Amino acid sequence: MQRSQEPTPSTDRAGTASSQDGRRLDLHVPLESGLAIGSIVTVTDDAGVQVGQVHDLSLSSDGSSRGSGSLLGALADDGSLTPGATRAFGSAVLAPAAPDVSTRLFGGSGELLELGTLRVGHPVPVGVLAARLNRHTFWCGQSGSGKTYALGVLLEQVLLHTRLPMVILDPNSDFVALGERAGTASTAAGRAAQDELQHRSVRVLRPRPGDHEALRVRFTALSMEGKAAVLRLDPVADRDEYNELVHLELEVGSQDTTQIVPQLRTRDSAAARALSARVENLGLLGWDLWAREHRAAAEVLDERPDATVLDLAGFSNPDEYLVVAMSVLDDLWAKRERRRPLLVVIDEAHNLCPSDDGSPLQNAVRDRIVQIAAEGRKYGLWLLLSTQRPAKVQRNVISQCDNLALMRMSSPSDIAELATLFGFVPVPMLEESPFFRQGEALLAGGFVPAPTAITMGERLTRQGGGDVRVPLRS
Ligand SMILES: Nc1ncnc2c1ncn2[C@@H]1O[C@H](COP(=O)(O)OP(=O)(O)OP(=O)(O)O)[C@@H](O)[C@H]1O
Ligand SMILES: [Mg+2]
Repeated sequence: MQRSQEPTPSTDRAGTASSQDGRRLDLHVPLESGLAIGSIVTVTDDAGVQVGQVHDLSLSSDGSSRGSGSLLGALADDGSLTPGATRAFGSAVLAPAAPDVSTRLFGGSGELLELGTLRVGHPVPVGVLAARLNRHTFWCGQSGSGKTYALGVLLEQVLLHTRLPMVILDPNSDFVALGERAGTASTAAGRAAQDELQHRSVRVLRPRPGDHEALRVRFTALSMEGKAAVLRLDPVADRDEYNELVHLELEVGSQDTTQIVPQLRTRDSAAARALSARVENLGLLGWDLWAREHRAAAEVLDERPDATVLDLAGFSNPDEYLVVAMSVLDDLWAKRERRRPLLVVIDEAHNLCPSDDGSPLQNAVRDRIVQIAAEGRKYGLWLLLSTQRPAKVQRNVISQCDNLALMRMSSPSDIAELATLFGFVPVPMLEESPFFRQGEALLAGGFVPAPTAITMGERLTRQGGGDVRVPLRS
Protein backbone atom coordinates (compact mmCIF):
# COMPACT_ATOMS: atom_id res chain seq x y z
CA MET A 1 0.00 0.00 0.00
CA GLN A 2 1.53 3.26 -1.11
CA ARG A 3 0.55 6.65 0.26
CA SER A 4 2.29 9.96 -0.35
CA GLN A 5 2.74 12.98 1.90
CA GLU A 6 1.87 16.51 0.70
CA PRO A 7 0.43 16.59 -2.82
CA THR A 8 1.67 19.45 -4.94
CA PRO A 9 -0.51 20.44 -7.90
CA SER A 10 1.66 20.97 -10.93
CA THR A 11 2.03 24.55 -12.09
CA ASP A 12 3.07 23.53 -15.64
CA ARG A 13 0.22 24.97 -17.60
CA ALA A 14 -0.88 22.54 -20.30
CA GLY A 15 -3.99 24.35 -21.48
CA THR A 16 -7.39 25.50 -20.33
CA ALA A 17 -10.50 23.71 -19.16
CA SER A 18 -14.11 24.49 -18.42
CA SER A 19 -17.00 22.56 -16.90
CA GLN A 20 -20.64 23.52 -17.19
CA ASP A 21 -22.02 20.85 -14.88
CA GLY A 22 -19.19 20.19 -12.44
CA ARG A 23 -18.81 16.66 -13.80
CA ARG A 24 -17.71 16.79 -17.41
CA LEU A 25 -14.60 18.64 -18.56
CA ASP A 26 -14.00 20.42 -21.85
CA LEU A 27 -10.30 20.76 -22.63
CA HIS A 28 -8.27 22.92 -24.97
CA VAL A 29 -4.56 22.11 -25.08
CA PRO A 30 -1.61 22.73 -27.43
CA LEU A 31 -0.39 19.66 -29.32
CA GLU A 32 2.78 19.33 -27.27
CA SER A 33 0.93 19.43 -23.93
CA GLY A 34 2.17 15.99 -22.97
CA LEU A 35 -1.36 14.93 -22.04
CA ALA A 36 -2.80 11.68 -23.30
CA ILE A 37 -6.06 9.78 -23.02
CA GLY A 38 -6.29 8.69 -19.40
CA SER A 39 -3.98 11.42 -18.03
CA ILE A 40 -4.79 12.71 -14.57
CA VAL A 41 -4.93 16.52 -14.54
CA THR A 42 -5.50 19.38 -12.14
CA VAL A 43 -7.74 22.34 -13.02
CA THR A 44 -7.08 25.48 -11.00
CA ASP A 45 -9.21 28.60 -10.76
CA ASP A 46 -9.76 31.27 -8.10
CA ALA A 47 -12.01 28.94 -6.10
CA GLY A 48 -9.42 26.17 -5.78
CA VAL A 49 -7.96 23.04 -7.35
CA GLN A 50 -9.89 20.09 -8.74
CA VAL A 51 -8.60 16.79 -10.08
CA GLY A 52 -9.87 15.33 -13.33
CA GLN A 53 -9.10 12.86 -16.07
CA VAL A 54 -8.71 13.18 -19.85
CA HIS A 55 -11.07 10.79 -21.68
CA ASP A 56 -10.62 11.92 -25.25
CA LEU A 57 -8.33 14.18 -27.30
CA SER A 58 -8.53 15.08 -30.96
CA LEU A 59 -6.75 17.48 -33.28
CA SER A 60 -8.73 20.63 -34.08
CA SER A 61 -8.44 22.84 -37.19
CA ASP A 62 -6.16 25.40 -35.48
CA GLY A 63 -3.52 22.72 -34.81
CA SER A 64 -4.26 22.41 -31.10
CA SER A 65 -6.12 19.58 -29.39
CA ARG A 66 -9.60 19.65 -28.01
CA GLY A 67 -10.86 17.04 -25.69
CA SER A 68 -13.16 15.97 -22.96
CA GLY A 69 -12.87 14.37 -19.61
CA SER A 70 -14.41 14.14 -16.18
CA LEU A 71 -13.88 15.76 -12.80
CA LEU A 72 -12.97 13.32 -10.05
CA GLY A 73 -12.58 15.33 -6.86
CA ALA A 74 -11.43 18.45 -5.05
CA LEU A 75 -7.90 18.95 -3.80
CA ALA A 76 -7.69 20.87 -0.51
CA ASP A 77 -4.81 23.12 0.56
CA ASP A 78 -3.57 20.43 2.96
CA GLY A 79 -3.33 18.06 0.01
CA SER A 80 -6.31 15.87 0.86
CA LEU A 81 -8.48 14.72 -2.03
CA THR A 82 -12.26 14.60 -1.62
CA PRO A 83 -13.70 12.34 -4.32
CA GLY A 84 -16.89 13.59 -5.92
CA ALA A 85 -16.71 17.10 -4.40
CA THR A 86 -16.55 18.82 -7.78
CA ARG A 87 -18.07 22.08 -9.05
CA ALA A 88 -18.74 23.90 -12.33
CA PHE A 89 -16.42 26.68 -13.52
CA GLY A 90 -16.01 28.95 -16.51
CA SER A 91 -12.31 28.73 -17.26
CA ALA A 92 -9.41 27.18 -15.36
CA VAL A 93 -5.75 26.42 -15.85
CA LEU A 94 -5.24 22.82 -16.87
CA ALA A 95 -2.03 21.00 -15.92
CA PRO A 96 -0.82 17.41 -15.68
CA ALA A 97 -1.26 16.21 -12.10
CA ALA A 98 1.89 15.90 -10.03
CA PRO A 99 2.81 12.29 -9.14
CA ASP A 100 1.67 12.65 -5.54
CA VAL A 101 -1.82 13.70 -6.68
CA SER A 102 -2.09 10.57 -8.82
CA THR A 103 -0.75 8.49 -5.95
CA ARG A 104 -3.35 9.97 -3.63
CA LEU A 105 -6.10 9.32 -6.15
CA PHE A 106 -5.16 5.73 -6.89
CA GLY A 107 -4.09 5.06 -3.31
CA GLY A 108 -7.81 4.98 -2.59
CA SER A 109 -9.47 4.92 0.76
CA GLY A 110 -8.98 1.27 1.59
CA GLU A 111 -6.47 -1.53 1.26
CA LEU A 112 -4.88 -1.40 -2.17
CA LEU A 113 -3.78 -4.52 -4.03
CA GLU A 114 -0.89 -3.08 -5.96
CA LEU A 115 -0.74 -4.46 -9.50
CA GLY A 116 1.67 -2.18 -11.35
CA THR A 117 2.24 1.43 -12.34
CA LEU A 118 0.39 4.06 -14.36
CA ARG A 119 0.94 3.54 -18.09
CA VAL A 120 0.77 7.24 -18.98
CA GLY A 121 2.34 10.08 -17.00
CA HIS A 122 4.41 9.42 -13.91
CA PRO A 123 4.72 5.70 -13.22
CA VAL A 124 3.07 5.87 -9.79
CA PRO A 125 1.92 2.61 -8.22
CA VAL A 126 -1.67 1.60 -9.01
CA GLY A 127 -3.78 -1.24 -7.86
CA VAL A 128 -7.32 -2.28 -7.15
CA LEU A 129 -9.32 -1.83 -3.98
CA ALA A 130 -9.44 -5.11 -2.09
CA ALA A 131 -12.87 -4.27 -0.69
CA ARG A 132 -14.31 -4.08 -4.21
CA LEU A 133 -13.52 -7.65 -5.08
CA ASN A 134 -16.95 -8.27 -3.58
CA ARG A 135 -18.24 -7.79 -7.12
CA HIS A 136 -17.73 -9.93 -10.22
CA THR A 137 -14.73 -9.09 -12.39
CA PHE A 138 -14.22 -9.65 -16.12
CA TRP A 139 -10.63 -9.89 -17.38
CA CYS A 140 -10.11 -10.07 -21.14
CA GLY A 141 -7.46 -9.68 -23.80
CA GLN A 142 -6.27 -11.57 -26.83
CA SER A 143 -4.01 -14.60 -26.60
CA GLY A 144 -0.56 -13.65 -25.34
CA SER A 145 -1.66 -10.23 -24.01
CA GLY A 146 -0.61 -11.37 -20.53
CA LYS A 147 -3.95 -12.19 -18.87
CA THR A 148 -2.81 -15.26 -16.98
CA TYR A 149 0.40 -13.56 -15.86
CA ALA A 150 -1.59 -10.51 -14.71
CA LEU A 151 -4.21 -12.64 -12.94
CA GLY A 152 -1.32 -14.25 -11.08
CA VAL A 153 -0.11 -10.80 -9.96
CA LEU A 154 -3.59 -10.03 -8.63
CA LEU A 155 -4.00 -13.39 -6.90
CA GLU A 156 -0.62 -12.97 -5.18
CA GLN A 157 -1.81 -9.62 -3.84
CA VAL A 158 -5.06 -11.18 -2.63
CA LEU A 159 -3.02 -13.84 -0.84
CA LEU A 160 -0.70 -11.23 0.67
CA HIS A 161 -3.18 -8.62 1.84
CA THR A 162 -6.56 -10.26 2.40
CA ARG A 163 -8.09 -13.27 4.10
CA LEU A 164 -10.31 -13.83 1.09
CA PRO A 165 -9.92 -17.50 0.09
CA MET A 166 -9.99 -18.38 -3.57
CA VAL A 167 -10.59 -21.36 -5.79
CA ILE A 168 -8.95 -21.33 -9.21
CA LEU A 169 -10.40 -23.37 -12.04
CA ASP A 170 -7.25 -23.71 -14.10
CA PRO A 171 -7.70 -25.33 -17.55
CA ASN A 172 -4.04 -25.03 -18.64
CA SER A 173 -2.13 -25.87 -15.43
CA ASP A 174 -1.01 -22.21 -15.33
CA PHE A 175 -1.53 -21.82 -11.58
CA VAL A 176 -0.19 -25.14 -10.29
CA ALA A 177 2.99 -23.36 -9.12
CA LEU A 178 1.17 -20.55 -7.29
CA GLY A 179 2.88 -21.67 -4.09
CA GLU A 180 6.40 -21.53 -5.63
CA ARG A 181 8.72 -18.54 -6.02
CA ALA A 182 9.38 -17.23 -9.54
CA GLY A 183 13.14 -16.80 -9.12
CA THR A 184 14.19 -13.94 -6.87
CA ALA A 185 12.14 -10.73 -7.08
CA SER A 186 13.99 -7.64 -8.33
CA THR A 187 13.14 -5.44 -5.32
CA ALA A 188 13.53 -5.85 -1.55
CA ALA A 189 9.75 -5.42 -1.14
CA GLY A 190 9.18 -8.12 -3.74
CA ARG A 191 11.55 -10.49 -1.96
CA ALA A 192 9.84 -9.83 1.39
CA ALA A 193 6.47 -10.53 -0.27
CA GLN A 194 7.87 -13.79 -1.69
CA ASP A 195 8.87 -14.81 1.86
CA GLU A 196 5.44 -13.87 3.16
CA LEU A 197 3.71 -15.92 0.47
CA GLN A 198 5.44 -19.05 1.75
CA HIS A 199 3.18 -18.79 4.84
CA ARG A 200 -0.06 -19.04 2.85
CA SER A 201 -1.79 -22.37 2.33
CA VAL A 202 -1.99 -23.09 -1.38
CA ARG A 203 -3.53 -26.50 -2.14
CA VAL A 204 -2.99 -27.77 -5.68
CA LEU A 205 -5.24 -30.63 -6.80
CA ARG A 206 -4.24 -32.44 -9.99
CA PRO A 207 -5.70 -35.32 -12.05
CA ARG A 208 -2.35 -37.15 -11.94
CA PRO A 209 -1.26 -36.12 -8.50
CA GLY A 210 2.51 -36.82 -8.37
CA ASP A 211 3.71 -34.51 -5.58
CA HIS A 212 0.30 -32.89 -5.27
CA GLU A 213 -3.10 -33.91 -3.96
CA ALA A 214 -5.45 -35.81 -6.25
CA LEU A 215 -8.28 -33.94 -7.95
CA ARG A 216 -11.31 -36.12 -7.29
CA VAL A 217 -15.09 -35.84 -7.16
CA ARG A 218 -17.91 -37.83 -5.54
CA PHE A 219 -20.65 -38.73 -8.02
CA THR A 220 -23.07 -39.24 -5.19
CA ALA A 221 -22.43 -35.71 -3.93
CA LEU A 222 -23.48 -34.11 -7.21
CA SER A 223 -26.87 -32.43 -7.37
CA MET A 224 -29.66 -34.28 -9.16
CA GLU A 225 -29.20 -31.94 -12.15
CA GLY A 226 -25.49 -32.65 -12.08
CA LYS A 227 -25.95 -36.43 -12.00
CA ALA A 228 -28.50 -36.30 -14.81
CA ALA A 229 -26.15 -34.14 -16.89
CA VAL A 230 -23.23 -36.54 -16.38
CA LEU A 231 -25.49 -39.43 -17.42
CA ARG A 232 -26.89 -37.36 -20.34
CA LEU A 233 -30.40 -37.93 -19.02
CA ASP A 234 -33.28 -35.66 -19.82
CA PRO A 235 -36.08 -35.65 -17.19
CA VAL A 236 -38.79 -35.79 -19.86
CA ALA A 237 -37.27 -37.62 -22.87
CA ASP A 238 -35.64 -40.23 -20.58
CA ARG A 239 -38.28 -40.15 -17.87
CA ASP A 240 -38.09 -43.82 -16.81
CA GLU A 241 -34.34 -43.83 -16.39
CA TYR A 242 -34.44 -40.42 -14.79
CA ASN A 243 -37.00 -41.67 -12.31
CA GLU A 244 -34.79 -44.69 -11.59
CA LEU A 245 -31.98 -42.23 -10.83
CA VAL A 246 -34.23 -40.38 -8.38
CA HIS A 247 -34.85 -43.66 -6.51
CA LEU A 248 -31.18 -44.54 -6.67
CA GLU A 249 -30.40 -41.18 -5.11
CA LEU A 250 -32.64 -42.08 -2.19
CA GLU A 251 -31.11 -45.55 -1.76
CA VAL A 252 -27.42 -45.08 -2.54
CA GLY A 253 -27.22 -41.64 -0.92
CA SER A 254 -23.62 -40.77 -0.29
CA GLN A 255 -22.20 -44.25 -0.90
CA ASP A 256 -19.40 -44.94 -3.32
CA THR A 257 -19.84 -44.92 -7.12
CA THR A 258 -19.05 -48.63 -7.25
CA GLN A 259 -22.39 -49.28 -5.50
CA ILE A 260 -24.41 -47.82 -8.35
CA VAL A 261 -24.46 -50.73 -10.80
CA PRO A 262 -24.96 -53.51 -8.16
CA GLN A 263 -27.73 -51.45 -6.62
CA LEU A 264 -29.44 -51.02 -9.99
CA ARG A 265 -29.18 -54.77 -10.66
CA THR A 266 -31.08 -55.55 -7.48
CA ARG A 267 -33.98 -53.41 -8.70
CA ASP A 268 -34.59 -55.66 -11.70
CA SER A 269 -36.76 -53.27 -13.71
CA ALA A 270 -36.38 -52.37 -17.40
CA ALA A 271 -35.52 -48.78 -16.48
CA ALA A 272 -32.91 -49.92 -13.93
CA ARG A 273 -31.32 -52.21 -16.53
CA ALA A 274 -31.29 -49.34 -19.04
CA LEU A 275 -29.70 -46.99 -16.53
CA SER A 276 -27.14 -49.59 -15.56
CA ALA A 277 -26.27 -50.13 -19.25
CA ARG A 278 -25.98 -46.37 -19.69
CA VAL A 279 -23.51 -46.10 -16.79
CA GLU A 280 -21.43 -48.92 -18.26
CA ASN A 281 -21.61 -47.69 -21.85
CA LEU A 282 -20.47 -44.20 -20.88
CA GLY A 283 -17.52 -45.84 -19.14
CA LEU A 284 -18.20 -43.70 -16.08
CA LEU A 285 -16.90 -46.19 -13.55
CA GLY A 286 -13.54 -46.30 -15.32
CA TRP A 287 -12.91 -42.59 -14.93
CA ASP A 288 -9.95 -41.70 -12.69
CA LEU A 289 -12.04 -38.87 -11.36
CA TRP A 290 -14.08 -40.60 -8.66
CA ALA A 291 -12.92 -39.95 -5.13
CA ARG A 292 -13.34 -43.38 -3.56
CA GLU A 293 -10.71 -43.39 -0.75
CA HIS A 294 -9.40 -39.92 -1.71
CA ARG A 295 -10.82 -36.63 -0.52
CA ALA A 296 -13.11 -34.88 -2.98
CA ALA A 297 -12.24 -31.39 -4.25
CA ALA A 298 -15.34 -29.91 -2.60
CA GLU A 299 -14.23 -31.35 0.75
CA VAL A 300 -10.78 -29.75 0.43
CA LEU A 301 -12.32 -26.44 -0.59
CA ASP A 302 -14.71 -26.63 2.35
CA GLU A 303 -11.69 -26.19 4.64
CA ARG A 304 -11.10 -22.85 2.89
CA PRO A 305 -7.34 -22.93 2.28
CA ASP A 306 -6.05 -19.50 1.21
CA ALA A 307 -5.99 -20.80 -2.38
CA THR A 308 -7.25 -24.05 -3.89
CA VAL A 309 -6.01 -24.66 -7.44
CA LEU A 310 -8.01 -27.18 -9.46
CA ASP A 311 -5.85 -28.28 -12.38
CA LEU A 312 -8.40 -29.17 -15.05
CA ALA A 313 -5.84 -30.25 -17.68
CA GLY A 314 -4.81 -33.85 -18.19
CA PHE A 315 -7.99 -35.86 -17.71
CA SER A 316 -8.35 -38.66 -20.22
CA ASN A 317 -12.06 -38.06 -20.84
CA PRO A 318 -13.10 -34.59 -22.02
CA ASP A 319 -16.21 -34.61 -19.77
CA GLU A 320 -14.18 -35.09 -16.59
CA TYR A 321 -13.09 -31.47 -16.16
CA LEU A 322 -16.71 -30.41 -16.56
CA VAL A 323 -17.72 -32.82 -13.80
CA VAL A 324 -15.07 -31.28 -11.52
CA ALA A 325 -16.43 -27.80 -12.21
CA MET A 326 -20.00 -29.01 -11.75
CA SER A 327 -19.30 -30.72 -8.43
CA VAL A 328 -17.41 -27.77 -6.95
CA LEU A 329 -19.91 -25.15 -8.13
CA ASP A 330 -22.85 -27.33 -7.03
CA ASP A 331 -21.35 -27.69 -3.58
CA LEU A 332 -20.69 -23.94 -3.25
CA TRP A 333 -24.23 -23.20 -4.34
CA ALA A 334 -25.77 -25.77 -2.02
CA LYS A 335 -23.92 -24.17 0.91
CA ARG A 336 -24.46 -20.57 -0.13
CA GLU A 337 -26.55 -19.72 2.93
CA ARG A 338 -23.40 -20.02 5.03
CA ARG A 339 -22.24 -16.80 3.37
CA ARG A 340 -18.55 -17.65 3.49
CA PRO A 341 -16.73 -15.32 1.07
CA LEU A 342 -14.86 -16.96 -1.78
CA LEU A 343 -13.25 -15.62 -4.93
CA VAL A 344 -14.06 -18.04 -7.75
CA VAL A 345 -11.41 -17.58 -10.44
CA ILE A 346 -12.13 -19.12 -13.84
CA ASP A 347 -9.33 -18.78 -16.40
CA GLU A 348 -10.34 -19.38 -20.04
CA ALA A 349 -13.93 -18.84 -18.90
CA HIS A 350 -15.30 -19.51 -22.40
CA ASN A 351 -14.67 -23.23 -21.73
CA LEU A 352 -16.98 -23.42 -18.74
CA CYS A 353 -19.32 -20.58 -19.58
CA PRO A 354 -19.61 -20.41 -23.39
CA SER A 355 -22.11 -18.26 -25.21
CA ASP A 356 -23.29 -21.20 -27.34
CA ASP A 357 -25.24 -24.25 -26.20
CA GLY A 358 -23.29 -27.49 -25.86
CA SER A 359 -23.79 -30.91 -24.26
CA PRO A 360 -26.20 -31.21 -21.30
CA LEU A 361 -23.19 -31.26 -18.98
CA GLN A 362 -21.68 -28.13 -20.53
CA ASN A 363 -25.04 -26.41 -20.28
CA ALA A 364 -25.48 -27.45 -16.65
CA VAL A 365 -22.06 -26.02 -15.70
CA ARG A 366 -22.77 -22.84 -17.62
CA ASP A 367 -26.21 -22.44 -16.04
CA ARG A 368 -24.68 -22.78 -12.58
CA ILE A 369 -22.17 -20.01 -13.40
CA VAL A 370 -24.98 -17.84 -14.75
CA GLN A 371 -26.82 -18.38 -11.48
CA ILE A 372 -23.76 -17.49 -9.40
CA ALA A 373 -23.22 -14.39 -11.56
CA ALA A 374 -26.82 -13.30 -10.99
CA GLU A 375 -27.29 -14.20 -7.33
CA GLY A 376 -23.94 -15.25 -5.86
CA ARG A 377 -22.77 -11.79 -4.87
CA LYS A 378 -24.98 -11.51 -1.83
CA TYR A 379 -23.79 -14.92 -0.63
CA GLY A 380 -20.12 -13.99 -0.93
CA LEU A 381 -19.48 -15.94 -4.14
CA TRP A 382 -17.54 -13.51 -6.34
CA LEU A 383 -16.45 -14.43 -9.84
CA LEU A 384 -13.20 -13.45 -11.53
CA LEU A 385 -13.49 -14.55 -15.16
CA SER A 386 -10.75 -14.38 -17.74
CA THR A 387 -11.12 -14.92 -21.47
CA GLN A 388 -9.76 -13.95 -24.88
CA ARG A 389 -12.97 -12.74 -26.49
CA PRO A 390 -16.08 -11.37 -24.78
CA ALA A 391 -18.29 -12.78 -27.55
CA LYS A 392 -17.28 -16.32 -26.53
CA VAL A 393 -18.61 -15.95 -22.97
CA GLN A 394 -22.28 -16.03 -21.97
CA ARG A 395 -23.48 -12.43 -22.12
CA ASN A 396 -25.67 -12.65 -18.99
CA VAL A 397 -22.56 -13.42 -17.01
CA ILE A 398 -20.45 -10.55 -18.38
CA SER A 399 -23.29 -8.10 -17.87
CA GLN A 400 -23.19 -8.93 -14.13
CA CYS A 401 -19.54 -7.90 -13.87
CA ASP A 402 -18.83 -4.52 -12.25
CA ASN A 403 -15.05 -4.61 -12.65
CA LEU A 404 -13.25 -4.76 -15.98
CA ALA A 405 -9.62 -5.42 -16.85
CA LEU A 406 -8.87 -5.15 -20.56
CA MET A 407 -5.52 -6.11 -22.00
CA ARG A 408 -4.44 -5.94 -25.66
CA MET A 409 -7.44 -6.57 -27.89
CA SER A 410 -7.23 -5.85 -31.62
CA SER A 411 -10.68 -6.80 -32.80
CA PRO A 412 -12.93 -3.73 -33.30
CA SER A 413 -16.06 -5.87 -32.84
CA ASP A 414 -14.83 -7.08 -29.43
CA ILE A 415 -14.12 -3.51 -28.37
CA ALA A 416 -17.58 -2.42 -29.53
CA GLU A 417 -19.08 -5.30 -27.52
CA LEU A 418 -17.19 -4.21 -24.41
CA ALA A 419 -18.30 -0.61 -24.93
CA THR A 420 -21.92 -1.83 -24.86
CA LEU A 421 -21.45 -4.11 -21.86
CA PHE A 422 -19.34 -1.67 -19.83
CA GLY A 423 -21.02 1.63 -20.66
CA PHE A 424 -19.24 3.36 -17.78
CA VAL A 425 -15.84 3.15 -19.52
CA PRO A 426 -15.01 6.03 -21.90
CA VAL A 427 -14.89 4.51 -25.39
CA PRO A 428 -11.59 6.23 -26.38
CA MET A 429 -9.94 4.48 -23.42
CA LEU A 430 -11.21 1.09 -24.65
CA GLU A 431 -9.99 1.96 -28.16
CA GLU A 432 -6.43 2.29 -26.86
CA SER A 433 -6.25 -1.45 -26.20
CA PRO A 434 -5.06 -2.51 -29.72
CA PHE A 435 -1.95 -0.45 -28.98
CA PHE A 436 -1.23 -2.05 -25.61
CA ARG A 437 1.94 -4.05 -25.24
CA GLN A 438 2.07 -7.33 -23.39
CA GLY A 439 1.43 -6.67 -19.70
CA GLU A 440 -0.52 -3.43 -20.16
CA ALA A 441 -4.12 -3.30 -18.98
CA LEU A 442 -7.02 -0.91 -18.65
CA LEU A 443 -8.73 -1.23 -15.27
CA ALA A 444 -12.22 0.19 -14.88
CA GLY A 445 -15.25 -0.16 -12.63
CA GLY A 446 -15.78 -0.15 -8.91
CA PHE A 447 -12.36 -1.55 -8.00
CA VAL A 448 -10.53 1.59 -9.21
CA PRO A 449 -11.39 5.24 -8.46
CA ALA A 450 -11.13 6.12 -12.17
CA PRO A 451 -10.57 4.05 -15.31
CA THR A 452 -6.84 3.74 -15.69
CA ALA A 453 -4.30 2.03 -17.90
CA ILE A 454 -1.43 0.35 -16.08
CA THR A 455 1.72 -1.60 -16.77
CA MET A 456 1.57 -4.81 -14.76
CA GLY A 457 4.21 -5.42 -12.11
CA GLU A 458 6.36 -8.45 -11.54
CA ARG A 459 5.10 -11.97 -10.77
CA LEU A 460 6.35 -13.29 -7.45
CA THR A 461 5.24 -16.88 -7.98
CA ARG A 462 5.88 -19.10 -10.94
CA GLN A 463 3.46 -19.31 -13.88
CA GLY A 464 2.92 -22.97 -14.66
CA GLY A 465 2.24 -22.87 -18.40
CA GLY A 466 3.76 -20.09 -20.45
CA ASP A 467 4.59 -19.88 -24.14
CA VAL A 468 6.54 -22.65 -25.85
CA ARG A 469 9.56 -21.29 -27.72
CA VAL A 470 10.50 -22.21 -31.29
CA PRO A 471 13.64 -24.36 -31.03
CA LEU A 472 16.50 -22.77 -33.03
CA ARG A 473 19.50 -24.68 -34.42
CA SER A 474 22.22 -22.25 -33.42
N1 LIG B 1 3.91 -8.55 -17.72
C1 LIG B 1 4.66 -9.58 -18.12
N2 LIG B 1 5.97 -9.63 -17.85
C2 LIG B 1 6.72 -10.68 -18.26
N3 LIG B 1 6.24 -11.74 -18.94
C3 LIG B 1 4.93 -11.75 -19.25
C4 LIG B 1 4.09 -10.67 -18.87
N4 LIG B 1 2.85 -10.95 -19.30
C5 LIG B 1 2.92 -12.13 -19.92
N5 LIG B 1 4.17 -12.62 -19.90
C6 LIG B 1 4.62 -13.90 -20.49
O1 LIG B 1 4.12 -13.99 -21.81
C7 LIG B 1 3.56 -15.28 -22.08
C8 LIG B 1 2.09 -15.16 -22.45
O2 LIG B 1 1.38 -14.55 -21.35
P1 LIG B 1 0.03 -15.16 -20.73
O3 LIG B 1 0.13 -16.63 -20.63
O4 LIG B 1 -0.25 -14.42 -19.49
O5 LIG B 1 -0.96 -14.75 -21.90
P2 LIG B 1 -2.55 -14.93 -21.98
O6 LIG B 1 -3.13 -13.60 -22.29
O7 LIG B 1 -3.05 -15.61 -20.77
O8 LIG B 1 -2.68 -15.85 -23.25
P3 LIG B 1 -3.78 -17.03 -23.55
O9 LIG B 1 -5.08 -16.32 -23.80
O10 LIG B 1 -3.23 -17.70 -24.78
O11 LIG B 1 -3.83 -17.90 -22.34
C9 LIG B 1 3.80 -16.11 -20.82
O12 LIG B 1 4.98 -16.86 -21.01
C10 LIG B 1 3.98 -15.06 -19.73
O13 LIG B 1 4.80 -15.53 -18.69
MG1 LIG C 1 -3.91 -17.46 -20.37
